[in-house]
Amino acid sequence: MAIPPPDPSSALPRSLRVSIIGAGRVGSTLAQRIVEKDLADVVLLDIDAGLPQGIALDLLQARGIERHDRKLIGTANYGDTIGSDVVVITAGFPRQPGMDRSDLLRSNAEIVVNAARQVVAYSPNAILLIVTNPLDVMTYLAWKTTGLPSQQVMGMAGVLDSARLQTFISLELGVSSHDVIALVLGGHGDLMVPLPRYCSVGGVPITELMDAATIARLVERTRRGGTEIVELMQKGGAYFAPASSACLMLEAILRNESRLIPVSAYVQGEYGLNDVYIGVPCRLDRRGIVNIVELELSEVERSALHLSAHAIRRDIDQALGLIGHLL
Ligand code: LAC
Repeated sequence: MAIPPPDPSSALPRSLRVSIIGAGRVGSTLAQRIVEKDLADVVLLDIDAGLPQGIALDLLQARGIERHDRKLIGTANYGDTIGSDVVVITAGFPRQPGMDRSDLLRSNAEIVVNAARQVVAYSPNAILLIVTNPLDVMTYLAWKTTGLPSQQVMGMAGVLDSARLQTFISLELGVSSHDVIALVLGGHGDLMVPLPRYCSVGGVPITELMDAATIARLVERTRRGGTEIVELMQKGGAYFAPASSACLMLEAILRNESRLIPVSAYVQGEYGLNDVYIGVPCRLDRRGIVNIVELELSEVERSALHLSAHAIRRDIDQALGLIGHLL
């Protein structure tokens, strides 16, 4: 008995395709999440010879067990990313103990700009999702140097910072994390802006469930969420929660879910901020960022957001100086 080969002339609908630039721990964990959730085919690209090919093959060998038929390609060739629906850039150096995210500006600016330009040459309509730190600055550079509409270029951080706060609230109260909504805006750095007024458990604001000192403790742990892990691991930083966070955004985009989530987005007057990428609540669907939602903020919250934007702007200016020769 023979199974007939597929008819090459029949027009199968094209599968969704996500390219991931950088096969480090975040990139490879994200590749695993994407295929095992059956979201899209994955092209994993890295300049480290053999690494993306090996990871792709390893993940392919698990398909029968994980029950999906997603294709995975490992490559060092940008031509293989052609026709991507979304491209995620994770390439760059991670933090070491004692560094803050801004210390990575110099090493990562050129890597992200080169990667963004090359992927856009092959996938001009792709949505770009930036994960490399310092996140908001790298997202700005990717937008600025590719010339893509800002709706198509975004950074992952608010989902991660909010997920951390969500976890800490659920642990503190001993309730399921499913019932906890948390919201963190601002830049992905020490000046991030957790908003306890907009955090709730089963619809009840946490300000009615915990005293101010407890909330302040959870907020501080959230701010240091990434640093705590870097200090524990000593080599590199978090990757499971960052990969989950990027995957949630991909899911919103690829499944056209119209989610309302915090995203590093280009602001043009929203919240009184201009010409910067910063974490704000966005509606996300197949088109990318459809709109930025302006929440009502108190004076204190608004000043904290502006302070965070100011620090990002300062780093953007420094980064633009560093990559001036590429512009
Ligand atoms: C963190 C890194 C990914 O927050 O920025 O863990």
